[in-house]
Amino acid sequence: MSKIILTGDRPTGRLHVGHYVGSLRRRVELQNSGEYDKIYIMIADAQALTDNADNPEKVRQNIVEVALDYLSCGLEPDKSTLFIQSMIPELTELSFYYMNLVTVSRLQRNPTVKAEIQMRNFEASIPVGFFTYPISQAADITAFKATTVPVGEDQMPMLEQCREIVHKFNSVYGEALVEPDILLPDNKACLRLPGIDGKAKMSKSLNNCIYLSDSEAEVKKKIMSMYTDPGHIRIEDPGKLEGNCVFIYLDAFCKPEHVAEYMPDYKSLDEIKEHYQRGGLGDVKVKKFLNNVLQSELAPIRERRKQWEKDIPAVYEILKKGSEEAEKVAASTLKDVRNAMKINYFEDNNLIKEQAEKYR
Ligand code: TRP
Repeated sequence: MSKIILTGDRPTGRLHVGHYVGSLRRRVELQNSGEYDKIYIMIADAQALTDNADNPEKVRQNIVEVALDYLSCGLEPDKSTLFIQSMIPELTELSFYYMNLVTVSRLQRNPTVKAEIQMRNFEASIPVGFFTYPISQAADITAFKATTVPVGEDQMPMLEQCREIVHKFNSVYGEALVEPDILLPDNKACLRLPGIDGKAKMSKSLNNCIYLSDSEAEVKKKIMSMYTDPGHIRIEDPGKLEGNCVFIYLDAFCKPEHVAEYMPDYKSLDEIKEHYQRGGLGDVKVKKFLNNVLQSELAPIRERRKQWEKDIPAVYEILKKGSEEAEKVAASTLKDVRNAMKINYFEDNNLIKEQAEKYR
């Protein structure tokens, strides 16, 4: 069986380093591993509209931002198909059929939907489109017969729900759909990178993100203001690692060569951590180290972004070509689905014969 990746992001803002360690970095590695037959990366504008219905301009503006972030991270259009969700109308038709396979109470139990309803104060009136977006996400994944979905931990319930839909579909209508596996980041620090304020998650509304497109100076400023251990006042004080953003970020980003290059007095990140916990290692020094690590990771991304920013029409052309290609694949799956569901009236000669027979 072919190995196929599908994943994507909602275009509601520029992508940040949480997206990067949670998924983007991995996607580029998977792309370059050569192990996958097809890779589809989707800008989920239709999904973004499920909770931004009154702000289409925001979604529209951010499509190119997300595409630029993809390209600057190293996704390459001749290796990965980059496309826009709403350009594939087959996805809405698939969603419509899948809706019959999911109950309202099952959607209500989806932990991600639950959390998002709370976050957006939707309790009193939930838009139906938003409420059902896990179904549309199952359509995204199955339309491309994806076997592997690399996403962050918060998407786990979406994948479970998708697998249930596939199960149900295949058992009712016959094996037409492929059950996908989730691929989570293997480094624990990457599962949910906190914001620079130490709050649970990086989020635009909390203003605690480091964006992939931030300038060198902006990144430095944000790192120097990062939440550490409030009890670590004097350098000699013992410091805590739990909840300490600087160390969580180092866990996510630091490679052994970084220690050798920027903190040559230490053998490993573990040794730096021990010193910090013992006391005698100041926050500023560790922050400067993190800044060096992060800048070395972000510099090539920033550089590639600058190049692409000079040719925006080319970026749209990549999305257009990718969308055309993606639509062909989704159309072929939709055909399989219609056949399986027996809604292929004009293509099934036996049907017409049978019905004619009945009335003879
Ligand atoms: N829900 C994802 C997010 O919020 C975006 C998304 C839409 C997606 N469809 C998908 C991710 C299919 C993986 C597979 O970022």
